[in-house]
Amino acid sequence: MHFDLASMPREQAYKLLVSTVVPRPIALTTTVDKKGRVNAAPFSFFNAVSSDPPVVVLGITAGGPAGEGTKDTARNIREVGEFVVNLVDEALAQRMNICAVDFPPEMGELEAASLESVPSLAVRPPRIAASPVSFECRRLAGLSFGPHSTLEVGRVIHVHIRDDLVDPQKLYVASEKMRLIGRMHGRGWYARTSDLFEMNRLTFAEWQERRG
Ligand SMILES: Cc1cc2nc3c(=O)[nH]c(=O)nc-3n(C[C@H](O)[C@H](O)[C@H](O)COP(=O)(O)O)c2cc1C
Repeated sequence: MHFDLASMPREQAYKLLVSTVVPRPIALTTTVDKKGRVNAAPFSFFNAVSSDPPVVVLGITAGGPAGEGTKDTARNIREVGEFVVNLVDEALAQRMNICAVDFPPEMGELEAASLESVPSLAVRPPRIAASPVSFECRRLAGLSFGPHSTLEVGRVIHVHIRDDLVDPQKLYVASEKMRLIGRMHGRGWYARTSDLFEMNRLTFAEWQERRG
């Protein structure tokens, strides 16, 4: 079946995209506004897109039903130029979900979700203490796709990894122990990362050998 996304209402195009590009990693993103007030919100249009330099991206689509308004995260990143991406494990899932509630401006998401924050080393937004991995990022660029949608691009300056997950000598990270979750389809489906399989990458010679 074929769908012409350009001629479809935005909600329908969204539905097709988010139910096919799965699972998506979740960036529980902390930012501060010009007055230093902390904001936290999850984003699953998120990924690491370069390692040299280390770069992550966040896709942020404006709030209202017609895409009007601006999300606090997008405004803060543009105005302050910094953000922290906190990865989300199973233990953080419920509290991450609370951070996506559309609270009135006077309410902070971290307090509402009972999330403790820790000052960052190089950027103003704090990181979330309970997150297994946090990336302190400085804004490199922003790409506007139209009135509703932006891509914020950040260079990772520092990465914090929970002590029990990393061997600092070998730089070995026990990814399978992190129990990160991914966002699936619909408004409320998520995936665990506990069902793994191994497949080594082949050299050309190995591929030829297998073909016989
Ligand atoms: C798991 C999850 C992933 C989300 N991913 C995105 C996303 O990639 N882009 C986006 O614009 N909103 C996304 N949202 C919705 C925002 O988190 C939500 O609109 C939030 O209230 C924005 O907060 P802010 O205005 O404080 O930035 C997601 C929500 C959840 C629960």
